[in-house]
Amino acid sequence: AIDIAKLRGQSGLITIDPGFKNTGSTTSSITFLDGEQGILRYRGYRIEDLAEKSSFLEVAFLLIYGHLPTQAEYQKFTRDITTHTLVHEDIKKILDGFPSNSHPMGVLSSLICSLTAFYPESLDPTRNEEAVNLSIIRLLAKMPTFAAWAYKNEVGHPVNYPDNSLDYCSNFLKMMFALPAERYDVDPVVSKALDQLLILHADHEQNCSTSTVRVVGSSQASIYASISAGINALWGPLHGGANQAVIEMLEAIKADGGDTKKFLNKAKDKNDSFRLMGFGHRVYKNFDPRAKIIKKAADDVLAKLGVNDPVLDIAKELEHAALNDQYFVDRKLYPNVDFYSGIIYRALGIPTDMFTVLFAMGRLPGWIAQWKEMRENGEPIGRPRQVYTGETERDYVSMNKRG
Ligand code: ACO
Repeated sequence: AIDIAKLRGQSGLITIDPGFKNTGSTTSSITFLDGEQGILRYRGYRIEDLAEKSSFLEVAFLLIYGHLPTQAEYQKFTRDITTHTLVHEDIKKILDGFPSNSHPMGVLSSLICSLTAFYPESLDPTRNEEAVNLSIIRLLAKMPTFAAWAYKNEVGHPVNYPDNSLDYCSNFLKMMFALPAERYDVDPVVSKALDQLLILHADHEQNCSTSTVRVVGSSQASIYASISAGINALWGPLHGGANQAVIEMLEAIKADGGDTKKFLNKAKDKNDSFRLMGFGHRVYKNFDPRAKIIKKAADDVLAKLGVNDPVLDIAKELEHAALNDQYFVDRKLYPNVDFYSGIIYRALGIPTDMFTVLFAMGRLPGWIAQWKEMRENGEPIGRPRQVYTGETERDYVSMNKRG
């Protein structure tokens, strides 16, 4: 006889918490988040202050090294990053192997993972600090190059090389949008708006992609492999892919005649799998503080750029209808950061497929900081348990006797 209780109980007590809704995986001193009160702080600094006064690279330094950089530290950090923006020419061969039309997220995660081949010293992250630090700088430096190249591959255009006379975001925009033999001047309004969006996305404690980075990193895989895994986790529409899904949803509503009520009802219908993209959040149950900042930025940017887009009118209508609907009020479903980020990206002329890539660019310093913290804490390999519910024990039956 088989003791099922023994088999099921395995050793010790196991908590079942699908989606890890109430399970802490680590202690962390990087990002403070209070979902009830809508508070978000990086290393103790308010997100509102950082979004208004800081720059993306300064925030990256803060998240990764734990303090705001001095002038000398900041200069060295930005100089180091600028030095490493170029990528090995052989990476272009990998890029060329992708069909055009490939989704840039898949290309991005592959190119990031390919860095393990170009910098094999990263394969052993237990090695010296200097090697780890260089990997961190390389990641920050090459990410915009890869992101822009993933886009160029998608549209079938030749790639642009980095222009190190430009700041981080302007360089990215130029690599992405400049065409051969055509002058391209980066609009400072666009560059500033992008910088702010990256700051708002830079870290968000133990979300799906960050937990992925930490779990993969806990096996002592290379930082490049860990970040590549994080990019894949971010890709899904319930996480970073939501900003793309928002615009696709708004376009679908417009194509259907623009009846927002109809789609609101679809989202409420439990027999329909449709959800209002950009609404709801696992931890923010009153409001998403990033959404508040970004909503204002969206209004400013749209006004400055003189954008008049019917899809944006649908967004406003939908937001108003949902905020006044009992279903959404009862479940505390508010627009999240991605509802508005998609709207700004669209106004900035960024194609929909690239929205999640920009989220990955913004989240990179957070992933790096979390990977570094996991390593410095000496955390054990991530290995959740389960409660087995399958057959207990069966005798093998050869194929000719199975009927
Ligand atoms: N539209 C309609 N109903 C919704 C939505 C939505 N967008 N979000 C949640 N609900 C409903 C659920 O059906 C559920 O209803 P019930 O209690 O009657 O069963 C209730 O609200 C709670 O939803 P859960 O799925 O349990 O909430 P959870 O915390 O697991 O999910 C999530 C959060 C994934 C963000 C969810 O709200 C969602 O799918 N939103 C749309 C996708 C999205 O915008 N994702 C971006 C997240 S932000 C980011 O990644 C940066």
